[in-house]
Amino acid sequence: MAKMAASMVESGEDAFRKIFKFYKRRNPPPDFSDVIDFSRGVPSDKVIPAKLDLVAVSDTEAARVGLQPVRDWRAFSLQGYPGFIFISNPFLLGSQPFWVRQCLKTYPQKPNVCNLDMHMSSSDTQDIWGKSIHGLSCPPSGKREPKTLLERLRWVTLGYHYNWDTKTKDPWSVGVMWLRSHTYSANHYTPFPAELNLLSFQITAACGFPGFNAEAGILNYYRSDSSLGIHVDESELDHSRPLLSFSFGQSAIFLLGGTCRHDPPTAMYMHSGDVMVMSGESRLLYHAVPCIIPAPQGHTALEMEDCSLASSLRDSTVVEQMSEQDWAVCSRYIQSSRVNVTIRQVLGPGQSFPETPSHHHRTDAGQTDGYHEGSVDGERSKRMRSSSCDFVDIGKT
Ligand code: SIN
Repeated sequence: MAKMAASMVESGEDAFRKIFKFYKRRNPPPDFSDVIDFSRGVPSDKVIPAKLDLVAVSDTEAARVGLQPVRDWRAFSLQGYPGFIFISNPFLLGSQPFWVRQCLKTYPQKPNVCNLDMHMSSSDTQDIWGKSIHGLSCPPSGKREPKTLLERLRWVTLGYHYNWDTKTKDPWSVGVMWLRSHTYSANHYTPFPAELNLLSFQITAACGFPGFNAEAGILNYYRSDSSLGIHVDESELDHSRPLLSFSFGQSAIFLLGGTCRHDPPTAMYMHSGDVMVMSGESRLLYHAVPCIIPAPQGHTALEMEDCSLASSLRDSTVVEQMSEQDWAVCSRYIQSSRVNVTIRQVLGPGQSFPETPSHHHRTDAGQTDGYHEGSVDGERSKRMRSSSCDFVDIGKT
């Protein structure tokens, strides 16, 4: 735990909330010196090299989805968090641009669901990429331009679509925490992207979870002022399966807490390409993203990559060469943004959803999901947030 932040916490307090606010603060900026940075090797005695299954995934299988050979991954565990694995950017040079393009161009397409569907017609949200590339390709004019749809994108759901309406408030806390429950249903499903399933399958297999089946995904799109409230991912019916998280673009602070809000969280950086696996005892821990950290000089390592495939990727059947025009749009977007993808297996083998009345996905414009922070579309969103402040997450209280 961050010593600076921890020293502010008194016993019996909502320690997570306090530390979340500490890292979310802009003025004066917080002291980040206690934040674990896995990209710097083994920086603290809390960090232990993680054991991977080196034969579960062949080098060819790994390269197919753009990953380095498993023996080259820098994977870590954290003392006190059994089942938590942090893999510091295991991607082959040149493969992240492909995954970023999938997140920006492919996954927001129908039939997947996104926040813009909540208050726009399906024809308006039909081609988010196509409608945004002109605005994102033009050099800034200095004038205040309307935001493109891509810049207004906050979340996309894949597979079993997460239903934001069905969150319940944590009875323990004072209106700042969401438990995700009963949020998937059999009749709100569209095919899960095969290449993302394969990527998830390989990573989880190397982490000791063979046979993982990616059934639901949530993509979160963060602008520089976004944050993600304190929550536990408990909606999935089978918690013995891990939760997988991919980060692309700008860096962020991730807070990993305990099973109750008294437990002060550990802060760590998530950089572009980093992968986290939450399994076992760490599967149901409180976590949050209090802030996005712009890369030094405004450049992430990813921005420096170019879109031509490295020789190790030329035989990949999944990671495709992308056009310079697509990469120009993606790299402009990630100069100020971060994309996170969490992947879940919802059902265990032989498991099915309990019989419940079908969930209707929200289509009304008058609510926010209370979980994402930061503006979706300027004034409108500010109005919506302020009229539902009981239901917003910790950052707005
Ligand atoms: C999540 O917890 O759903 C996403 C966390 C992240 O953005 O890293």
